[in-house]
Amino acid sequence: MTRPRKLYVKSYGCQMNVYDSHRMADTLAPEGFVETAQPDDADLVILNTCHIRERAAEKVYSELGRMRVLKQQAAQEGRRVTVAVAGCVAQAEGEEIVRRAPVVDVVVGPQSYHRLPELLRRAETGKAIDTAFPVEDKFERLAQPSRGKIASRGVTSFLTVQEGCDKFCTFCVVPYTRGAEVSRPAARIVDEAQRLADAGVREIVLIGQNVNAYHGEGPDGRAWSLARLMHRLAEVPGIARLRYTTSHPLDMGEDLIAAHRDLPALMPQLHLPVQSGSDRILAAMNRRHTRAQYLSAVERLRAARPDLAFSSDFIVGFPGETDGDFRDTLRIVEDVGFASAYSFRYSPRPGTPAAGMEQVDAGAAAARLQELQAAIDECMDRFNAACVGRTLDVLFEKAGRRPGQIVGKTPYLQTVQAMAPPSLFGKIRPVTVTGLGSFTLFGSLAEPPQRETAPLAAAGA
Ligand code: SAH
Ligand code: SF4
Ligand code: F3S
Repeated sequence: MTRPRKLYVKSYGCQMNVYDSHRMADTLAPEGFVETAQPDDADLVILNTCHIRERAAEKVYSELGRMRVLKQQAAQEGRRVTVAVAGCVAQAEGEEIVRRAPVVDVVVGPQSYHRLPELLRRAETGKAIDTAFPVEDKFERLAQPSRGKIASRGVTSFLTVQEGCDKFCTFCVVPYTRGAEVSRPAARIVDEAQRLADAGVREIVLIGQNVNAYHGEGPDGRAWSLARLMHRLAEVPGIARLRYTTSHPLDMGEDLIAAHRDLPALMPQLHLPVQSGSDRILAAMNRRHTRAQYLSAVERLRAARPDLAFSSDFIVGFPGETDGDFRDTLRIVEDVGFASAYSFRYSPRPGTPAAGMEQVDAGAAAARLQELQAAIDECMDRFNAACVGRTLDVLFEKAGRRPGQIVGKTPYLQTVQAMAPPSLFGKIRPVTVTGLGSFTLFGSLAEPPQRETAPLAAAGA
């Protein structure tokens, strides 16, 4: 038998790339590839890339510079290393990547991962490039992970239910790199969730670029909404927690809002990007909703689940953004009282409408970003501080920083460190929050009788 070949996969960008990287590794396992944590001894390196902002895309080329050195060293030892670029840069740039970085042997777009084994065979004699949007369902062709593999990935798992985007926000490359919205059939998702739960997964994060636009075929032949799907998934034995990300405010349907009230497994944390608080900028971004419509969605969601913690994404320095527009953005941070948020400086992306609009002065944009980040940090600190003294259910995941410490997540997605035995990995226990660290809460295991049952009002609401 030949020696097992080693595979190193590095993921950039969003959760979908993390999920896809796992599925690529799963698909290559029957081909004799075992995963390694460092590139040095790998026979195959896959960089699963992100094209969302310029800096993300450029990172890939500096990594490819390192791969060139690695490949040369390996060649001196008589070893061949194959380098593959997957993900959204692969889709956006295609063969341009091979021109710019000849070290690359394989370029594979997100819709062609099931073809990897064949592409690797082609790469033995030349370059193999596949950025097609094939008709076959890649999810059906990607191999499933073994039980052991699932268990090694932890008690929380991503599960792609929807891919692609039809929204065409004027700043965004995703509709071009991931293609049109496609929802997977509900039965397949339930099967996958069952397999994950059987191997010890307790929390499933349903993912999609526009996950709340999910409308996959149900077993009854009708289109199921995300809410309907989650009601079914909550029945899967072993699944204690459900989350979904990323949602678009326009697709926040009534049944989905009601699910936050009716479905105990659905965790009270929602990533609902708003991008800007200014109606003028929202219109220029083609977000197709106003500030008031966003706030109304938040209000309806909070009526359904009063302790719902919101997070968001923001873009500052979008073309045409004035100081007044930016003040509107700062104001919406206060109005909603986000529990956390990511903020980015606008980055013009090739082929998107906003790239051709008049750009905001770089210095002004940088200053706005700083100011926004400070406002977000303050909001986040306030939310976390309000949790001190509360007892929250924590799903324990892995070892902590210090000996004897283990780490888990609260329903609101905060990380908690507590002194507790590793036997609690995969278990949910009430933890009293005792203090705040910079990116984490500290807590101690509470006795069950102290457990808080009624949801408290969210901080900042
Ligand atoms: N599907 C998600 C977002 C995907 S991209 C949604 O609709 O919200 C993740 C985040 O990156 C976006 O929410 C946006 O805030 C940011 N982003 C996307 N394109 C960007 C660009 N050109 N410049 C800066 N930030 C961008
Ligand atoms: Fe991009 Fe907008 Fe689609 Fe989100 S909704 S992926 S920001 S185009
Ligand atoms: Fe990046 Fe593609 Fe995800 S551009 S954010 S990896 S969908």
